[in-house]
Amino acid sequence: MQLVTQDNITDVVTEALGRNGPISDRQREILSGLIRHFHDFCREVKLQHDEFLYACDFLARAGQTCDGKRQEFILLADILGIEVLVDMLTNPADGGETESTVLGPFYRENPPVLPKGASTILKHYDNEETVYFEGRVLDTNGAPIEGATIDIWEDAPNGLYENHDHDQPDYNLRGRFETDADGHYAFVAVRPVPYPIPDDVTAGELLRAMGHHPNRPGHIHFIVSKPGYGTLVSQVFDADSDWLDNDSVFAVKESLVAKFAPTNEHETDLHCSFDFKLREGGLDEKDLLESIGSIEAA
Ligand code: BEZ
Ligand code: FE
Repeated sequence: MQLVTQDNITDVVTEALGRNGPISDRQREILSGLIRHFHDFCREVKLQHDEFLYACDFLARAGQTCDGKRQEFILLADILGIEVLVDMLTNPADGGETESTVLGPFYRENPPVLPKGASTILKHYDNEETVYFEGRVLDTNGAPIEGATIDIWEDAPNGLYENHDHDQPDYNLRGRFETDADGHYAFVAVRPVPYPIPDDVTAGELLRAMGHHPNRPGHIHFIVSKPGYGTLVSQVFDADSDWLDNDSVFAVKESLVAKFAPTNEHETDLHCSFDFKLREGGLDEKDLLESIGSIEAA
């Protein structure tokens, strides 16, 4: 009989891995790491039973919050900086490609396919500032990539994404564009405004427990893809936005910050230019979205 103690419980549990059926090396690596770190965490903070029960109830309530529109566990992972860390481990951007950052919960697959330079704006707001957003998609040697697909999505000037706001038309401020022979793309959008991530349920409870806030700096989301190149999931941040140094989900990277400058051209208020670099090889868009388990938010 094996007697468990505070000191041997981690080894006892780890040794049970695979005892009743084969597991892969990766399963063993992940589960033994998980067990070791969780046990050390409990020992370090001397976790008490009432705190353990609170955590179980918290996770149960987080699960009950999830539906086709809301993935509370990704939000919780974002608030703890876990999604951005996993993204950096998955996409180290060490080959000259554009840095990636978190997908977030508001992506919708199959946005409207629009011609180069078209507007994604389907509803106007008094406080909106329009922007002509353009740039090129290049490989890591700087050669243009023709026929790359660019999905974009952003919040409206009221701080809400279209799929979380009944007052916006379907697919407002979303679009899919394609690069020309020069790798060039362009679209018209609005200056993205800062917004709070959903903080009404367990995400808000965690933020309050951390003494943190829910706000994100203004940003436009991008997925840039072309078969044969790694799909890039990223965001471009407004250099003049509030919360740039204090993002609730820690997703800002310096290389992704761009100036939205006043312009007299393009019949827009602002102009912004941003080039994307894709790395050769890697997951294509379909594989990537499957691996992300993206939510088709209704
Ligand atoms: C977003 O940028 O849309 C987002 C990212 C992480 C959590 C919530 C929202
Ligand atoms: Fe966002």
